[in-house]
Amino acid sequence: MKTLPLCRIVGLGHCLPNAPIGNADLIARYGLQSTPDWIEQRTGITQRYFVQAGQTTSTLAAIAARAALVQAGLEAGQIDAIVVATCTPDYTFPSVATLVQAALGARAGGIALDVNAACSGFIAALSMAQGLFATQPGVQNILVIGAETFSNVLDFTDRSTCVLFGDGAGAVVLQRNPAGEERGVLHIQQGADGTHASLLHSEFGVAQGNIAGTVHMQGAAVFKHAVRQMGDADQAQALLQLSGHSLDDVMWLVPHQANARILEAAATSLGVPMDKVIMTVADHANTSAASIPLALSVAAEAAKLQVGQLVLLQAFGAGFTWGSASLKI
Ligand code: ACO
Repeated sequence: MKTLPLCRIVGLGHCLPNAPIGNADLIARYGLQSTPDWIEQRTGITQRYFVQAGQTTSTLAAIAARAALVQAGLEAGQIDAIVVATCTPDYTFPSVATLVQAALGARAGGIALDVNAACSGFIAALSMAQGLFATQPGVQNILVIGAETFSNVLDFTDRSTCVLFGDGAGAVVLQRNPAGEERGVLHIQQGADGTHASLLHSEFGVAQGNIAGTVHMQGAAVFKHAVRQMGDADQAQALLQLSGHSLDDVMWLVPHQANARILEAAATSLGVPMDKVIMTVADHANTSAASIPLALSVAAEAAKLQVGQLVLLQAFGAGFTWGSASLKI
């Protein structure tokens, strides 16, 4: 028997801080031994956004959340839970979600927590939200946010990593479905393989006696794992079959925006044509956990997402961690 989705997306919003920084500007600003063409050809990235002093992950998250609330036609006081996916939080504690709750004036006593699954964090946050709908009958509306200020953990002397990332936030409002509703978050699958932690990591952390490190990555190895995981057609088919769909039914593939070449290879492996792939990496660079909700919000703004369409989210990130979600808009 087909299970009906517990919730659907009723609002989307995003935040990209300040003016975009083009490849030439980035190279000049940090004295990188690189060229705009190298960056664009190897990654598809033409620009990214960075926060300035005083702007934090929670700042971006709250702006994206407010935009999503407006679209949903809801007040902050109607939000029962806030789940933020991030690996660049304002503080070790409290969570970004609690800061967003306070900034929005959302109701005290509601749930607020962060999840960290690096670049696949938004899928983990979505899964957490599904769990809250399933187990807490009083929960009606949940804000799920992906927000990052990756510029804080970039080594600007390492040209092979600092050109790849950007800052931003994307937010969705999920609302509990009325009985019989067929639209919404259909199914989610997640996984992790911690044996690959060293291929993409920051070298410090609180338990190491230092607050944060910078991004270290074995790019070619990460590239292969990302394509294999985000392009796993059997896994995607199995997920879609749970709701009686197949890859042919997918209207939009929204992958984690790591690198245009990774996205092209993953889409090819899934057999999804590029005109059905939402690509924002050129304009936003890799915003880690923010990239999927940012891409969804931008696609909705461009009127690409239409009611009834089937959307497949595919994410991969440090750990390694990964996840997919099927949605009916
Ligand atoms: N400008 C100019 N040259 C550069 C730059 C740069 N910004 N960065 C690296 N190079 C050089 C390298 O030093 C190397 O020089 P060498 O041959 O003299 O040693 C040369 O370019 C080729 O390097 P490769 O690593 O082979 O280049 P590749 O084509 O693999 O591209 C890249 C590198 C873009 C990092 C690629 O491996 C990649 O995209 N990997 C995936 C990384 C990724 O997207 N990570 C995101 C986090 S994970 C995630 O989100 C899923």
